Amino acid sequence: MSYNLLKGKKGIIFGALDEKSIAWRTALRCHEEGAQLVLTNAPVAMRMGEINKLAETTQAPIIPADVTNMDDLKKLFEGAMSHFGGGIDFVLHSVAMGMNVRKGKHYTEIDYNWNQKTLDISSMSLHRVLRTAWDMDALNEGASVVGLTYIAAQRVFPDYNEMADAKALLEAVARNFGYHYGIRKKVRINTVSQSPVKTTAGSGVKGFDGFLTYAEKMSPLGNASADDCASYCVSLFSDLTKMVTMQNLFHDGGFSFTGVTQAVIDQMEK
Ligand SMILES: NC(=O)c1ccc[n+]([C@@H]2O[C@H](COP(=O)([O-])OP(=O)(O)OC[C@H]3O[C@@H](n4cnc5c(N)ncnc54)[C@H](O)[C@@H]3O)[C@@H](O)[C@H]2O)c1
Repeated sequence: MSYNLLKGKKGIIFGALDEKSIAWRTALRCHEEGAQLVLTNAPVAMRMGEINKLAETTQAPIIPADVTNMDDLKKLFEGAMSHFGGGIDFVLHSVAMGMNVRKGKHYTEIDYNWNQKTLDISSMSLHRVLRTAWDMDALNEGASVVGLTYIAAQRVFPDYNEMADAKALLEAVARNFGYHYGIRKKVRINTVSQSPVKTTAGSGVKGFDGFLTYAEKMSPLGNASADDCASYCVSLFSDLTKMVTMQNLFHDGGFSFTGVTQAVIDQMEK
């Protein structure tokens, strides 16, 4: 159902790889709510051409950008502003890559060069995006920026590996840049701490399926889906949340504040 919450708003969506991607689901919801979009992803991620389908459905141009490349980001914002004929109202940062996770390196044995790349792609990229927008004065007054994160930033989930550190850094960047951008232009910057979802990035984590079931049993409302996350992001991009900034917002069916559930106790007693 559409509420026209984003009517007249213009946004950039990073990270739609395929139809399971949280960014993909969010782009569809934003379009449904009346927003105009520009889609972006790393040039290598576009080889499969999947994103073209999303571009067609949402009538959005695609402007490739590697989030670690400042020239790419500048071209992206220039392209988006020229397409929209003005500034940008919202940005979804839905980007992550765990190099050591990918290469199967245990947390106690990480390769530091790969780790630097992980932090650059998954965390400092939010700073790079915000800095580019800041230098170009690309965001409109009251614009909303959302990054996606996971509770491993606060609690230990051993198989989440270096991504736990990466998410802690991402949340810190949202908070700290949120201060400066809030003062300068009432721009709000938040992170959404989402339930596990079976996407390309999500499935990269060891033991993911078992963990997904555990999280489902540990959440009074069950796991939040990618579509649920998309709707939550829409609310954060809308004017209804204009005083929310510098927050890490849990969107996880209650998982983060649950000590144990009857379902988990029953399982242990079997
Ligand atoms: N899936 C989950 O369980 C889950 C839970 C909480 C948070 N998140 C977060 O949600 C976000 C989206 O992940 P997803 O689960 O939709 O998976 P996904 O694999 O569909 O999305 C990750 C995206 O990052 C992009 N990317 C990687 N390197 C890039 C680069 N250098 N430049 C530009 N883009 C690059 C990929 O191309 C891909 O589109 C990530 O930040 C992830 O950590 C996911």
